[in-house]
Amino acid sequence: MTTTTDRTDTGRTETVGTSAADIEFHYDLGNDFYALWLDETLSYSAAVWDGIDPAEPDTTALPRAQRAKLDLHLDLAGAAPGARLLDVGCGWGGLLDRAVRTGRAAEATGLTLSRAQHAHVRSLGLPGVDVRLESWDAHRPGRPYDGIVSVGAFEHFATADMDAAARLAAYRAYFERCHGWLRPGARMSLQTIAYDGVTGGDGPVGAFVAAEVFPGAVLPRLGEIVLASDPYFAVTLVRASAEDYARTLGAWSARLLRARAEAEPLVGPDGYHRYRRYLRACEVTFLRGAATLYRIGFRRRDEPLRPAG
Ligand SMILES: C[S@@+](CC[C@H](N)C(=O)[O-])C[C@H]1O[C@@H](n2cnc3c(N)ncnc32)[C@H](O)[C@@H]1O
Repeated sequence: MTTTTDRTDTGRTETVGTSAADIEFHYDLGNDFYALWLDETLSYSAAVWDGIDPAEPDTTALPRAQRAKLDLHLDLAGAAPGARLLDVGCGWGGLLDRAVRTGRAAEATGLTLSRAQHAHVRSLGLPGVDVRLESWDAHRPGRPYDGIVSVGAFEHFATADMDAAARLAAYRAYFERCHGWLRPGARMSLQTIAYDGVTGGDGPVGAFVAAEVFPGAVLPRLGEIVLASDPYFAVTLVRASAEDYARTLGAWSARLLRARAEAEPLVGPDGYHRYRRYLRACEVTFLRGAATLYRIGFRRRDEPLRPAG
């Protein structure tokens, strides 16, 4: 596991968090494999399940819940007709797609470190969308954005081998950069998993996930996010929902189980079992309250404050 890379052939430069190689280990397993168990928006993050009947089949419930999640983030980021948006960690492009197709953005830029995701989003040919194989710390936009969204990527912005001061510095660098990219008064939205229990990632699930699923990633705590963002952003909303992730993981798990016959030829029996174990183990982690999910809204401060801590 490395914390830096210099893959300049792709336009991507070094990152302070999860390396490009570790990102590819997870996300470049194959778009066809992920398409088997994610919903049709290919959202790979917790959905918003408010008002969705537990008895509704996941074939319709999961895409509805994922679209509700996308709309929540577009709202928090102040998306509106004509807006210019940035999605940091855009995955397979579900939010970019929703933003431009619903007319809530005229231009949307997505950043990802995954070649497979980058190729997929490009293949969609979405009008007004620019997808870049680029880390946030290498991003240099030509003009300010009206809003920024980042869903499920913050977990990659630091690494487990960083001490608390280094993590805070990495997170603060992210917020400082976002502050510089946004126009005055702009909004921003963040969704991230976070530690909520006392043990951090030291337990067996944490060790398995770090070794076999998400190498080079580490979860923040809410206090770290607030401390890191405070100089640059006022918090407008904090919404915690471990249940939203547990229910999403349950739906993914059920869909992967049903798709076993198609999944095994793509990733092998070991790959299939590793993903089944990871999805079930993480579901239990959320149900037990060792980790939670935060959705946080921010408003850009006109003048940054002097950092505390
Ligand atoms: C769990 S996926 C979430 C994707 C998408 N937002 C969603 O909700 O489906 C995490 C994403 O973060 C991206 N990512 C991780 N570190 C990044 C970095 N330093 N700069 C830009 N993107 C990054 C990955 O490439 C991947 O697209």
